[in-house]
Amino acid sequence: MGGVKGSPAELAGLRIRTLARLLLVSPTTTVGNPQAPSLMTETITVCAVDELPPGERKTVVWEDIEILVVNIDGELLAIEDRCSHDDGDLADGEIYNDRCAIECPRHGALFDLRSGKPLTLPAYKPVDTFPVKVDGDTITMEVS
Ligand code: FES
Repeated sequence: MGGVKGSPAELAGLRIRTLARLLLVSPTTTVGNPQAPSLMTETITVCAVDELPPGERKTVVWEDIEILVVNIDGELLAIEDRCSHDDGDLADGEIYNDRCAIECPRHGALFDLRSGKPLTLPAYKPVDTFPVKVDGDTITMEVS
């Protein structure tokens, strides 16, 4: 008789590992044509390029997520406008160009604007970041 053999404990472990692999598939994974955009990713317009010069910031709402887009010395970055410590808004926080970081105005956690990772307590969980592009004279962002 065919099939998978093993003790009940081994089979349970196999099922758990298989399920974990299935759950770890990225929602942006493209199946089939690797050139085709993911069905889970959407490109949205942020604003015209001249509306977001270096040193400026803009908040964009997509579905129920507020996203802060900043221009740091010509580099466009987008981060979820929500502190992972206690849901404070990051949009009014001080930006440190030299560290490419933003400080949560509520309790002072610093977040890396490129990765969304917290650099200081009290936050210890990362927040989402989003790819930003310039398409002609328009700034766009990929959201998923
Ligand atoms: S809400 Fe941001 S550090 Fe507490």
